[in-house]
Amino acid sequence: MREILTQPVATQALPLAKAHALLAEALERVEAVLSETVSSTVEMIPEVSHHLISSGGKRIRPTLLLLMAQACRVDVNQGVELSVATELFHNASLLHDDVVDRGHLRRGVTAAPRVFGNSASVLVGDFMMARAFGIVVRHGDLDLLRELSLVISAMAEGEVLQLIRSGKVTLSLPNYEEIISGKTAGLFSWCCRAGASLGPARAELVEAAAKFGKAFGMAFQITDDVLDYTAAPEQSGKDLANDLQQGKTTLPLLLACEQDHKLLKIVETVAESEPTEKDCFEIVRRVNNTQAISLALNYARQYSQKAIDSLAVVTDSSAVEHLRQLANHVTDRIELT
Ligand code: IPE
Ligand code: IPE
Ligand code: MG
Ligand code: MG
Repeated sequence: MREILTQPVATQALPLAKAHALLAEALERVEAVLSETVSSTVEMIPEVSHHLISSGGKRIRPTLLLLMAQACRVDVNQGVELSVATELFHNASLLHDDVVDRGHLRRGVTAAPRVFGNSASVLVGDFMMARAFGIVVRHGDLDLLRELSLVISAMAEGEVLQLIRSGKVTLSLPNYEEIISGKTAGLFSWCCRAGASLGPARAELVEAAAKFGKAFGMAFQITDDVLDYTAAPEQSGKDLANDLQQGKTTLPLLLACEQDHKLLKIVETVAESEPTEKDCFEIVRRVNNTQAISLALNYARQYSQKAIDSLAVVTDSSAVEHLRQLANHVTDRIELT
């Protein structure tokens, strides 16, 4: 399907690489603690965990948490444990997601459920979540814990909402936003809230950080949904058109159907059964032939701008500049895992 991909391939995610360089020491600690945290005498737990953790990933959630901490004048080392918790929540959600979405490729390698089975993936995901909660409980900030419990239940609600809507082509923009807000943006928001709350930050600052994360997360998921139609597996480390195969309507398809009425008919027909590879090929080609991709990316850019605007109350610093650059970059990314 690669030959029909029309999007230009961006080079390595520069702002993320720069942020990683700035936070190198703290991120190294995050990796070490992450690895320790998934240890268990039940061998399959570290085995499944390491399959996912060691195969890459951008570590964008820890990066945002640490940058936000630094922006709020906190020593980044104080953010290591909570960063581990965010990456664990995220990895647990990936293990569950690859069961639900029947994904074959994750971070450029065979997805855990295809290697270890669905049951092992679900159960190890549960273990990771429990360990992550343990970290946040030990941290002892009850407000942060309360926010987290809301975020995690909203994540499940977002996923369930997506599940019950799958197979239905028509999805309103508010419904789409409700899904991505729950399943993705909430955790991004919590990461930034957590980073800001580590310092003696005023409530106004913590709320601004949470707003930044929320808008960033919306832009991030919209871009991910675009990449499902535009990025070859060698670039994204994930299957192409997996959303389509799973009957998930996302913003690019929604916008494309508004422009190409024949596409709407095709998708409606295909939605009645499992789409074949030929169906997917035709739909991806048609989506890429409309303005849907650039419109969706423009929509994501509005969220990136919203994120940047939320930083207005934070005193300018190099960490704030890194956050701004990351927000600006979200919609350009075509990354290797
Ligand atoms: C993938 O997240 C799932 C989404 C919320 C879109 P990432 O794109 O952060 O995945 P990794 O951690 O880099 O593999
Ligand atoms: C993100 O949505 C789901 C999670 C929050 C785990 P996707 O289903 O689009 O994520 P990918 O594309 O499989 O990484
Ligand atoms: Mg998925
Ligand atoms: Mg996706």
